[in-house]
Amino acid sequence: MTVTGPAYTKPSHALMYNYYLGGKSWSGVDAQAAIEVVRSSPDVPAVARENFRFAGRAAAWAVKHHGIRQVLDIGVGIVHDIPDDGVERCVRAVAPQAMVLGYDIDPVVLAHARAWRPGYGGVLRGDIRDLDSIFNHRDAADLIDPTAPTVVVAAAVFHFVSKPAAVMAELRERLAPGSVVIVSHATSTGTEQSRVDGMTESYDETRSPIRFRSEAEIRALADGWDIVTPPGLAPVESWSVDGTYQRGPYETVRVVGMAARAGAERVA
Ligand SMILES: C[S@@+](CC[C@H](N)C(=O)[O-])C[C@H]1O[C@@H](n2cnc3c(N)ncnc32)[C@H](O)[C@@H]1O
Repeated sequence: MTVTGPAYTKPSHALMYNYYLGGKSWSGVDAQAAIEVVRSSPDVPAVARENFRFAGRAAAWAVKHHGIRQVLDIGVGIVHDIPDDGVERCVRAVAPQAMVLGYDIDPVVLAHARAWRPGYGGVLRGDIRDLDSIFNHRDAADLIDPTAPTVVVAAAVFHFVSKPAAVMAELRERLAPGSVVIVSHATSTGTEQSRVDGMTESYDETRSPIRFRSEAEIRALADGWDIVTPPGLAPVESWSVDGTYQRGPYETVRVVGMAARAGAERVA
């Protein structure tokens, strides 16, 4: 099936990610940019795969462990042609009746979702910087209960956002107690600065610059939340609550992840 979307001359990070994961949805300009990133940091495809697996594993854990039945996957990306199971499949494996909604800002991602996943709970246009576009989306109103705990997945999306702490604080206010947010983020901690600079420069040429943050900055995104510990904030390739998942380690690029739970008290 050919999916037509807007024609872009600059690479899309969503399609570069699809390239890293072994998908087939990218164009030449995306592949060229992705190859340049891999040249500075050869671990990128392996870490991208581990990030993808982390998102599914952590969401499934939260749903199963806390009995949550609604999941919002914000910045869902293109998943239909990826060899591994994404968030939706991982969640349905433990909770077949769960409502799973995907959101993305990229029109090409939405075009792929419409073409390939008509049976999916839904992939809607939503911008994580504007939570009204997510929570007040007219197609989501009847599907999501705002008074019930929710799992929000924000995997590999905050490094494309300038003020992620404000988004996390607003999520904390909006979500019901007991909700869980799954976050992963590229970090500058533990990687040579020259590699971080190389990747940052490559992404400057795309439609969405990337911002690496230190582990301390990423941990601070969960201020007002309870970070699930163990494992706390951990490399995506070794994040698991029971300590049984262990791959890597990777050094030429590092992505760390965490699950953070909203306690009974809402943040004022
Ligand atoms: C690197 S991909 C990650 C895909 C998936 N979450 C994962 O971790 O496997 C980042 C995705 O976030 C989307 N995205 C970027 N900025 C966004 C925003 N402000 N709101 C919603 N989605 C966004 C991109 O279009 C892309 O599909």
